[in-house]
Amino acid sequence: MKLLFLNGPNLNMLGIREPDIYGRQTYEDLKQYIRDFCKELGVEECGIFQSNHEGALVDAIQDAYGKFDGIVINPAAYTHTSVALLDALKAVGLPAVEVHLSDVSRREDFRQVSYVRPACCKTIAGHGFAGYKLAAEHLAALHAGHRKQ
Ligand code: DQA
Repeated sequence: MKLLFLNGPNLNMLGIREPDIYGRQTYEDLKQYIRDFCKELGVEECGIFQSNHEGALVDAIQDAYGKFDGIVINPAAYTHTSVALLDALKAVGLPAVEVHLSDVSRREDFRQVSYVRPACCKTIAGHGFAGYKLAAEHLAALHAGHRKQ
């Protein structure tokens, strides 16, 4: 199984950015955490990409077509604004899980809307880094199920 992990704007600032909400671990720590659990889960290839630019994230989703079996995406602020990311996820049709470090359901009203959610098979929020692992486990179970059919 090949998984792509996408992170949106300001997630490169983890550790510095609002540590009371997002914790003190850095984006480098997150990348290492993802690589470690991917090894553990037997993920054959893990792509990790972060961008502050909506179009770069759209390009990354499109490039995943034919290369990856699933996408774990934390679109960050673009969650609440981006029809382009929704359309890109729908276009490639890969199973995708939406992840948020914080529990967005308990935050501001504007964070209650997710444009990408209709293109995702699951949303995981409020579990910090562990949310990415839970998402990968979900995609691994889906992938194993599909292969059995
Ligand atoms: C976030 C939540 C978003 O509302 C916010 O804009 C982010 C991070 C999270 O991981 O909790 O940048 O996606």
